[in-house]
Amino acid sequence: MKADMIVGIQWGDEGKGKIVDLMAQNYDVVCRYQGGHNAGHTIWVDGVRYALHLIPSGVLNPKAINIIGNGVVVSAEALIEEMKQFEGLLGRLFVSDKAHMILKHHILIDQAKEKLRGEKAIGTTGRGIGPSYGSKIERSGHRLGELRDTAKLATSLIEFYTENRALFQALDIVTPDFSALKDELDGYAEILLPYLADTTQMVWKFLDEKKRVLLEGAQGTLLDIDHGTYPYVTSSNTISAGACVGLGLSPKDIGKVTGIVKAYCTRVGNGPFPTEDFGDEGQMLREKGKEYGTSTGRPRRCGWFDAVACRYASRINGCDDLAIMKLDVLDGLETIKVCVAYEINGQRVETLPEDLNNVTPIYEEMAGWESVVGCRSYDALPQSAKAYLKRLEEITETKIGLISTSPDRNDTIIL
Ligand code: GDP
Ligand code: IMO
Ligand code: MG
Repeated sequence: MKADMIVGIQWGDEGKGKIVDLMAQNYDVVCRYQGGHNAGHTIWVDGVRYALHLIPSGVLNPKAINIIGNGVVVSAEALIEEMKQFEGLLGRLFVSDKAHMILKHHILIDQAKEKLRGEKAIGTTGRGIGPSYGSKIERSGHRLGELRDTAKLATSLIEFYTENRALFQALDIVTPDFSALKDELDGYAEILLPYLADTTQMVWKFLDEKKRVLLEGAQGTLLDIDHGTYPYVTSSNTISAGACVGLGLSPKDIGKVTGIVKAYCTRVGNGPFPTEDFGDEGQMLREKGKEYGTSTGRPRRCGWFDAVACRYASRINGCDDLAIMKLDVLDGLETIKVCVAYEINGQRVETLPEDLNNVTPIYEEMAGWESVVGCRSYDALPQSAKAYLKRLEEITETKIGLISTSPDRNDTIIL
């Protein structure tokens, strides 16, 4: 059996949580493979709102097993807090003992460095993501499995704090002493050790047993550390290839890939965003789409669908189809803009350049519609909405498999 995947196509917040929750009803296992509690996935079920950051969005299906893979960076504190929302997680949630920890100093370094960057700040979520992945790559990180010997882990961390005293002093960061640190780690170990597992072997076994496995991406393609708008990116591989590394799968284990994309575009944090709309329509998208961050509450920057970026993202992820989210947010607009190419130094460009800072979008204007909110059948969509979707399929060179018309699980059209 192969594992299917959902992956973000834009700058995150596309609505991955809603789709994973919906699809999880038909899957036995849901796995996160990268990112950390920078992710914020909002899910509405029967009028109740759930905000998930680390726990896979399959948790709302009581029958699904949920896995946090080795590629995720885990703040034990954040995970324990999030686990409190749910009962009976033992045996239903497993966390890789190879996943790297986000420790308090990572969070403080993230926040201090952002301040120092001033105008060049990335606009991180301040959750310690970059410094934790940095420690992993630099080979000074610590994995969750090390919670099995907290005295050794605390000793190693105290050594690290001592060796890097100058850095911590320069950033005004106070590090804990041995006994405070050991107490903190003991607290994490007591709760988390029963959840730690060799999740790679587990997923292999599930696939061998023909269980249905769904892989849940966090963030989005344009925030990928290699293939996004560097340096205004997150510190992991958000593209589908990241799932192999972040779980221990081979490319041959991957089945269907569904790209999640909004019918318009948003970005939170800094960095280039060619189709950003600074006017009334951008403001309308923000208010109507409730475009405020799930993790940080920050207002999201809003703009028009960027087909150049989407085509690139679809290719790099190997998308079999796209899920078009939040079509209802475009309700009531007389015309809708779609970016079909960029102009760079007077030239029309249809591929994504390395630098997105100095590109001017070339738009096509399409007729809007009155209302699609809550629509559950393709046939019932207004003609102009169908024309918009057809055009998106053409210019992204990817077929549409699903259309979402409200935050509710049921307000979804499956094609
Ligand atoms: P994720 O990070 O990709 O999981 O997305 P977020 O949860 O951060 O942001 C998506 C937001 O859009 C959430 O508040 C969802 O409840 C909401 N949402 C998802 N699908 C739709 C839709 O089709 N229409 C509307 N209006 N809202 C939606
Ligand atoms: P989900 O999974 C949107 C953005 C931050 C910042 C950049 C780097 O909900 O789609 P980081 O804290 O990761 O070092 O910040 O990445 N970012 C997200 N934007 N959705 C997310 O996750 C994000 N996770 C990180 O705003 O610009
Ligand atoms: Mg989000």
